[in-house]
Amino acid sequence: MISCLIFSCICISAARDMVTFMLKWLEKFPTFKSRPLFLTGESYAGHYIPQLAIGLFNYTNNQSNNFKLNIKGIALGNPLLHLDKDVPAVYEFFWSHGMISDEVFDSITNECNFDDYVFSNSHNVTKSCMQALNEANHIVSNYINAYDVILDVCYPSIVEQELRLRKLATKMSMGVDVCMTAERRFYLNLPEVQRALHANRTNLPYRWSTCTDMLDYSQEDGDRDMLPLLVEIIKQGIPLWIFSGDQDSVVPLIGSRTLVRELAQELNLTTTVPYGTWFHKGQVGGWQVEYGKILTFATVRGASHMVPYAQPARALQLFNSFVKGRSLPNTTSPEISGPPNE
Ligand SMILES: *[C@@H]1O[C@H](CO)[C@@H](O)[C@H](O)[C@H]1NC(C)=O
Ligand SMILES: *[C@@H]1O[C@H](CO)[C@@H](O)[C@H](O)[C@H]1NC(C)=O
Ligand SMILES: *[C@@H]1O[C@H](CO)[C@@H](O)[C@H](O)[C@H]1NC(C)=O
Ligand SMILES: *[C@@H]1O[C@H](CO)[C@@H](O)[C@H](O)[C@H]1NC(C)=O
Ligand SMILES: *[C@@H]1O[C@H](CO)[C@@H](O)[C@H](O)[C@H]1NC(C)=O
Ligand SMILES: *[C@@H]1O[C@H](CO)[C@@H](O)[C@H](O)[C@H]1NC(C)=O
Repeated sequence: MISCLIFSCICISAARDMVTFMLKWLEKFPTFKSRPLFLTGESYAGHYIPQLAIGLFNYTNNQSNNFKLNIKGIALGNPLLHLDKDVPAVYEFFWSHGMISDEVFDSITNECNFDDYVFSNSHNVTKSCMQALNEANHIVSNYINAYDVILDVCYPSIVEQELRLRKLATKMSMGVDVCMTAERRFYLNLPEVQRALHANRTNLPYRWSTCTDMLDYSQEDGDRDMLPLLVEIIKQGIPLWIFSGDQDSVVPLIGSRTLVRELAQELNLTTTVPYGTWFHKGQVGGWQVEYGKILTFATVRGASHMVPYAQPARALQLFNSFVKGRSLPNTTSPEISGPPNE
């Protein structure tokens, strides 16, 4: 999974490919052209969804194309938006969760300047900064699921062995099957599954995997700041939601929350729902803040990098509010402290 973070795509060319795909798809299914359209995704979607949106604006604002789309909202979960905040947030998250020591965090704070941090391997940081970052990553270790630090880890080699013997490989941790990635890889490589999906009809010479380095995408695209595109989206009057599973250390809420506040400031948006709890079934679903009735930041309590993975019901509540254009419920009943005793 970690390799996805390093190698997978975040690219302008991916966004252009998606614009082409969407336009061709709508040509084939024209009844969908006038339907309300919501764009959403997570992680690297912080890059490719805003780029897709801008690409679609470009196309539909062009008079000669005589074409309008009804974009109703954009939602991004634990999105990579700008390395200057998203990367230091990782180490702050490690530190605040007891995963690294005060000393290591201090040396990161003192040695690292994340303003110039870049995506590619050397990261454009000093040697002493790199040492501190490496030490932190070493202490955190591979025995932590970085995408949800309170879940136990799966041992993929054991799972694969069991699946090959057609045994159940499920490993439950906090109500979540943490071996799902390995099970999915096994399942999608079964010849009968591929046949049923009409996939791999050309008998490709390699196995299916979650992440591939077959696509030659540029690393530099990862350095791009997405805030200017988000400014453009909001200026077009399109509601934007940024949500964060709060157990994720890969793109932690701390960075996203800061970036959303910066975005609100840049657009001079006033706070329309003050920072506070939202509820699902009488429990705190997470925390939220809304700016200018158009920009929402919401955390999802107990959720992973992929929010629905560990908190499906809270994720559904969030999705429901998003597509209905409503704020998340910020009250619940009954109240926790009843009337005072006689
Ligand atoms: C949108 O159009 C502008 C101006 O023509 C261009 O600079 C930009 O690259 C385009 N963006 C996308 C994602 O197509
Ligand atoms: C508008 O669309 C036409 C036809 O697709 C294209 O030739 C032209 O370059 C576009 N103009 C802009 C400003 O993108
Ligand atoms: C690397 O950092 C320096 C300042 O430390 C900055 O001037 C330079 O633009 C950065 N390089 C890249 C590729 O961002
Ligand atoms: C495609 O099918 C071939 C032959 O059945 C198989 O060996 C290969 O792993 C599959 N590749 C992918 C990407 O699914
Ligand atoms: C926000 O306010 C500042 C100062 O009043 C102004 O210069 C700027 O243009 C405003 N930005 C937007 C997007 O309205
Ligand atoms: C609850 O949300 C409404 C807007 O939907 C807002 O006006 C109100 O201040 C919020 N209440 C609290 C306690 O945050």
